[in-house]
Amino acid sequence: MAVLTGAGVSAESGIPTFRDSNGLWRQFRAEQLATPEAFANDPELVWEWYDWRRELIAAAQPNAGHLALAEMERRVPHFTLITQNVDDLHERAGSRNVIHLHGSIFVQRCLRCSRETSGPRPPKCACGGMLRPGVVWFGEALPPGLWEAAEQAVRASDLLLVIGTSGIVYPAAGLARLGKRVVEINAAATALSDDMDETLEGPSGEILPRLIA
Ligand code: OAD
Repeated sequence: MAVLTGAGVSAESGIPTFRDSNGLWRQFRAEQLATPEAFANDPELVWEWYDWRRELIAAAQPNAGHLALAEMERRVPHFTLITQNVDDLHERAGSRNVIHLHGSIFVQRCLRCSRETSGPRPPKCACGGMLRPGVVWFGEALPPGLWEAAEQAVRASDLLLVIGTSGIVYPAAGLARLGKRVVEINAAATALSDDMDETLEGPSGEILPRLIA
């Protein structure tokens, strides 16, 4: 079994999504914050935004949806959770086999030596290089090997749950079309809904616990 999650799964933990009415891309311009060009233009501004989100995420708690997915993993022999989220709420809920397609907000990567570290951000890398957030920005490739692992997990699974994603950011959204049987769980209809085998409409923090009850 495989699961693809997006920002909606963390919404009930108080983490804003990107494209809902109160989403981050309604408040901020993505091209000023989440592109390599934005970082080259104003690294301090970009870091300020990521530091703010790091704090918000660190203070949040996994919700009933995250916990239900961790419980599913304990019950199902082959289970892969693929997430577009850069938060760590799946892991904190107990999920183990997690692929972070878009990286982690708690990682920083050196622009000079490419070394990645996690935890509090030092002013510079040990090599003296400048640090950037360890996330995937618009226009960037996914971290090497992750797409292949995600695709393989989806193709090998009888069931794919697609949870809390608008399904418009590729390549991640393309995974939804590779599943043998695909069930969407979302608070609203999405770009993917028409192609789903089944759609369950409602908050994932309410629907997922019901699936394991
Ligand atoms: P979006 O903000 O595009 O979509 C969030 C989805 O969650 C919407 O379809 C909502 O209807 C749904 N939703 C909101 N609350 C929900 C709830 N309580 N239960 C279930 N569903 C709920 O977020 P993503 O699809 O994750 O990219 O966005 C994809 C990527 O775009 C992100 O990973 C990020 C962003 O730019 C990068 O960081 C590279």
